[in-house]
Amino acid sequence: MSLFDSIIGQTDTWTIENDSSINFGDYVHVESRFTEILGTRFPRRVLTDGPPLSIPETLKEQLTWQASPAVDPRNLVPSPHHIFHHITKSMAETLHRISELQRDVSHRPSLLLTGPTGCGKTTIVKTGCFLANEPCIELTFSGDTTLADFFHRTEVIRESGEASTVTMLGPAIQAMLHGYKLLINEINMLPPDLLSALTQAMDTGYLIVSGTEMGNIEIEVHEQFGVIATANPDYVGTTELGRAFQRRFGWGLGMIPMDFLPANEEVTAVLAEFNRQPITKALELRADRSVVKRLVSVTAQLREHSDFGPTLLDRLSTRTLVHWLTLGHTTGLPLADVAERAVLSTVPKELVEGIVDLIRQALGRLKASASEIIPNALLDVMLTGDAPTDGHAIALPDNTEVMANTKIMDRPSGSRVRLADGQHVHIYVETNRPPKISLSASSSDDNQDVSTIRRTLRDQHGINLASELGHLPSAESALPCLTSSSWHALRLAQGTLIAGHPVFLRGPTGCGKSALARTIGRLWNLSVVEFSLTGETSKADLTATRKLDAGITTWSVQAFLEAARDGKFVIVNEYNLAYPDVHSIINGLFDKAQSIRLPNGQSVQAHKNFRLVATGFPEGPGVKPLNEGVENRFGAVIHMDYPCPEDELAILNFVGGNKIDPALLNSAVELVSTGRSIMSGTWNTDNDHPLNNVPADLSGAAADRTGLTTAELLALVRASADTEAFVGSLRHGVLDGSENDVRPVLEATLTGYGLV
Ligand SMILES: Nc1ncnc2c1ncn2[C@@H]1O[C@H](COP(=O)(O)OP(=O)(O)OP(=O)(O)O)[C@@H](O)[C@H]1O
Ligand SMILES: [Mg+2]
Repeated sequence: MSLFDSIIGQTDTWTIENDSSINFGDYVHVESRFTEILGTRFPRRVLTDGPPLSIPETLKEQLTWQASPAVDPRNLVPSPHHIFHHITKSMAETLHRISELQRDVSHRPSLLLTGPTGCGKTTIVKTGCFLANEPCIELTFSGDTTLADFFHRTEVIRESGEASTVTMLGPAIQAMLHGYKLLINEINMLPPDLLSALTQAMDTGYLIVSGTEMGNIEIEVHEQFGVIATANPDYVGTTELGRAFQRRFGWGLGMIPMDFLPANEEVTAVLAEFNRQPITKALELRADRSVVKRLVSVTAQLREHSDFGPTLLDRLSTRTLVHWLTLGHTTGLPLADVAERAVLSTVPKELVEGIVDLIRQALGRLKASASEIIPNALLDVMLTGDAPTDGHAIALPDNTEVMANTKIMDRPSGSRVRLADGQHVHIYVETNRPPKISLSASSSDDNQDVSTIRRTLRDQHGINLASELGHLPSAESALPCLTSSSWHALRLAQGTLIAGHPVFLRGPTGCGKSALARTIGRLWNLSVVEFSLTGETSKADLTATRKLDAGITTWSVQAFLEAARDGKFVIVNEYNLAYPDVHSIINGLFDKAQSIRLPNGQSVQAHKNFRLVATGFPEGPGVKPLNEGVENRFGAVIHMDYPCPEDELAILNFVGGNKIDPALLNSAVELVSTGRSIMSGTWNTDNDHPLNNVPADLSGAAADRTGLTTAELLALVRASADTEAFVGSLRHGVLDGSENDVRPVLEATLTGYGLV
């Protein structure tokens, strides 16, 4: 059983007994045949087993897709889990507008909802479809998608050696044929050719499909087909919503601009959303209305602020408010602290201080909950006790057990391999999947780690077994100890992940971001899968790729999506080296439906235990800005940095034990810290310091060599048997390969710090 199962429960807490039990509030009322919105009745679509009048069975068979939909349209109506449950007045007005436009079948109107990230566009569309009982297909366009994938696919199927061509209809054609709504998020990120193919069909009402088994054909688009798109105008990686869009969306007729709710409504909306979260129910958290009021009011003030507003509008969304409040509950931290550490960490430096001041004035030391009682379930999994004080490093709590499910007891198909110590390992080779191993049932050591067995097999038998995705991170790959800053960052990340939201760790290279993420995986005994993105990473790398299997095109889910589907703890490093549109492909995994649709129409659902920690640099070579919508989905963006010198020394002493002279470790830390501050521009050039007596380009070049990362310092300490070895390696690290003109400066600097 996973840790998340034990906290949040194994049953799906989103379950609603039946649709009628949803209370939408005062403005919307649903019956089976109609929905009443702000006093107007709109009929709901009638979806039955089949069409009202039947046709001969044989004809139906002959007509195949022309006569019957591939899926029961009733299953395409958004589920109650994916819609709003509380609809405020402004939301009802938007829904009223959508419903009126949709009612006019003769217009076949396409809708475009625009507005800032996290204002509820996607969810309101689904709520509208639910209210109207309209089947709705949400498309995700991956980079590997061709036009043909979404519009039609011709597959060659070999039956008894003979090739035949069968037309398979992509999800977009299904919607056009049978009259469903197509929901396309971030439509302004769509490649232009896809957009024009889509709008061609919308404009003419006909779709041309070439090369089917009937030849080239024309299909009349179903009256009830409609495109509903959402867009965040002017976000990173988007194209401008110019006139072409306007024209296609009916000269503004179908344009529905959205914005955040008025403050009083936002309070109710945030409370409703907070209360329906699984974590809220599982831990019986109670949101305090007056607290939410204060959060919403300071947020409204900030969004309207003349200096801060433009920056914060795309950061402080309704979604953010829910995250902020949740984190206040899971960590017990004052809400202003949560804002500073997890919400505002991407705000430009020059603005942060002013914003934080304003929040502190408004909220003071206000906490999410007045109750000091922390649910036991939280105490069990979060770091507890006091944070280490400055200049101290503490050991990690030791609650790591061997992962379950690594042992499979006697299965007849296994082969026995004898280890040198007399124990037996069983290896089960299976088709189409990696082999499994277990120790013989008679083994004395019940808790032997699978990774130890694997290592033994490598050493003794030369067998290096492949395994499924995911492993328990090793102690060496995790943080060696915790200092004040890593303790706080770790706890904040835990509080976010427990609630089911992804975390972004942002900081310079080698400051311990990935190690911190692995530490959480290790503390929680989870199966961790770790990736790195690059500038080459494509959308297809994150989702699925085309594969030809015995003549049939199939879509093979890539490792990332598999990890999400199977509920792994996923760490993605260098998140912001990929282009901004790459991550937006997986936005759907962090929306209410938690799923994305592959080009073949198959929808991949994230497992409820799936967790994501992304890490990235704030700046540096190849770093790209994150799209605002991508960034907004993180429950916390946590800023990390190199430890301050006294903490860094504490870490090195902790790892080095007594083998290295603390005085020299201290010198090394001072040297490194000087280098880092010269590089980051925080160095005081008026200081009485030898590096201030050389030309700036030389001291800069020297800083580049001496400003080691924490990871590098740690590696030096680990690899050194004693003080002498440590100083030797450090000198090599700093001096080797340095330019001739810099070398004397480096030599002198090292000497100055006593590192000889
Ligand atoms: N009007 C609202 N009422 C209640 N909750 C809201 C509202 N707007 C946003 N939220 C919260 O924010 C989450 C995100 O909403 P949604 O995905 O619909 O936003 P979006 O506008 O589509 O954002 P994006 O542009 O990033 O895709 C919701 O699941 C909900 O928790
Ligand atoms: Mg959306």
